[in-house]
Amino acid sequence: LHVIHIAAEMAPVAKVGGLGDVVSGLSRALQKKGHLVEIVLPKYDCMQYDRIRDLRVLDMELESYFDGRLFRNKVWVGTVEGLPVYFIEPHHPSKFFWRGTVYGEHDDFRRFSYFSRAALELLLQAGKKPDIIHCHDWQTAFVAPLYWDLYAPKGLNSARICFTCHNFEYQGTAPASEMASCGLDVHHLNRPDRMQDNSAHDRVNPVKGAIVFSNIVTTVSPTYAQEVRTSEGGRGLHSTLNSHSKKFIGILNGIDTDAWDPATDVYLKSQFNANDLQGKAENKEALRKHLGLSYADTRRPLVGCIARLVPQKGIHLIRHAIYRTLELGGQFVLLGSSPVPHIQVEFEGIANHFKGDDHIRLILKYDESLSHSIYAASDMFLIPSMFEPCGLTQMIAMRYGSIPIARKTGGLNDSVFDVDDDTIPLQFRNGYTFLNPDEQGLNGALERAFNHYKTNKESWQKLVKKDMNIDFSWESSALQYEEIYEKSVARARATSL
Ligand code: ADP
Ligand code: GLC
Repeated sequence: LHVIHIAAEMAPVAKVGGLGDVVSGLSRALQKKGHLVEIVLPKYDCMQYDRIRDLRVLDMELESYFDGRLFRNKVWVGTVEGLPVYFIEPHHPSKFFWRGTVYGEHDDFRRFSYFSRAALELLLQAGKKPDIIHCHDWQTAFVAPLYWDLYAPKGLNSARICFTCHNFEYQGTAPASEMASCGLDVHHLNRPDRMQDNSAHDRVNPVKGAIVFSNIVTTVSPTYAQEVRTSEGGRGLHSTLNSHSKKFIGILNGIDTDAWDPATDVYLKSQFNANDLQGKAENKEALRKHLGLSYADTRRPLVGCIARLVPQKGIHLIRHAIYRTLELGGQFVLLGSSPVPHIQVEFEGIANHFKGDDHIRLILKYDESLSHSIYAASDMFLIPSMFEPCGLTQMIAMRYGSIPIARKTGGLNDSVFDVDDDTIPLQFRNGYTFLNPDEQGLNGALERAFNHYKTNKESWQKLVKKDMNIDFSWESSALQYEEIYEKSVARARATSL
């Protein structure tokens, strides 16, 4: 198959959260299976250019439509993690991707609707004939309706469109007046069965548009796929998803086990593996020294937490866990930053409060290298999310021998299984879970984990080794994507005969 991803993120060059990891992880897994996989990204000024190989400008004049006229774009091509990636650099006075940031601009709707249209234009003008065009989240959701309105008729018509929603909380809705800029048919707005937002009828909803216009719609775990089909979990889109349920499926993400491998990880002080955990202890000591934490008592458990600090991640429970860990005699390291100013300020307050305490550290920024050190050094890893489409941190933590303490929701429910839950076969039990999103629920799981850690060293080590050996690679998930792609392509061929 020839698969082209159109996305706003790709690890490691342009990563904000898990979307970046998924775009590169899934692409690499499909490439390993022998498929031709290419990626189209905006050319952000803030990318990690040192991770792009052989970056060069293509000798092509890419013109794309916006606001009623044509704009020129420079197209770059390079290799990221062995994958061919096209980067679109618009010559537009608004300097859409020259803002020092991936998201969070007042005109994100315009930035990404411009990009979606330009990406399709690139495929057309470069003569690409992909079997699958795979777009992700609201930023590239525009691709689906634009494709059927404008590009399928122009000759890109052999492609099937796959849309993956990584988080239904973000739908990118905008006033109707924004819609026409990229050439979307304004009539879609007046249609409740097309792009009109289900509650604000004068707004356009790109995620809804992608659900309606794609051939395949996926989300990132089976449990979340069920949750979003209910009125409590669907963020207003449950009825749309239910009417398109035949093409909707939840596939659990994997992690890139080459990029996340404690045996080869260059960010670590000492590499380690499940048969030799000495290196894990060395990483714990190194991190404690690096952060100025007390390292007198090596047996003191270290709890790690790495997250975008947004309400989804269970802010009040993260805050509570910091205090409770201290009371239980543990140490806590939080790495996270928040796009929400009052949350960032709140955590800065907590960091200040604990400044002199040598058992708590809050590092309130994005830091790739430090994230690896925390996964490797921590004994336990906290993910108390209110909802979680998939969640990658619990899988990475397990691969690095850190036992997850997670709320049973979304993808956490599909990947973390409580060690004390007799209803689950013993071989699958790998962490501590709790259901109620409150302090009591969290306390119960945290205390059971501490108790286990402190009272039965041998059995804890066994659990660590078991978790490190779980296969969280993309292998089986990529197989599922391959299957749904192939089925969709076959269906299209059958109907065109
Ligand atoms: P989400 O996509 O909702 O943020 P995921 O669990 O899917 O959550 O993915 C989060 C990814 O971002 C993980 O790879 C995690 O290590 C990384 N990450 C989150 N916050 C930070 C941070 N402050 N510094 C470095 N990496 C981070
Ligand atoms: C989103 C979700 C997260 C998921 C990630 C990758 O950011 O919040 O749960 O793991 O996308 O699919």
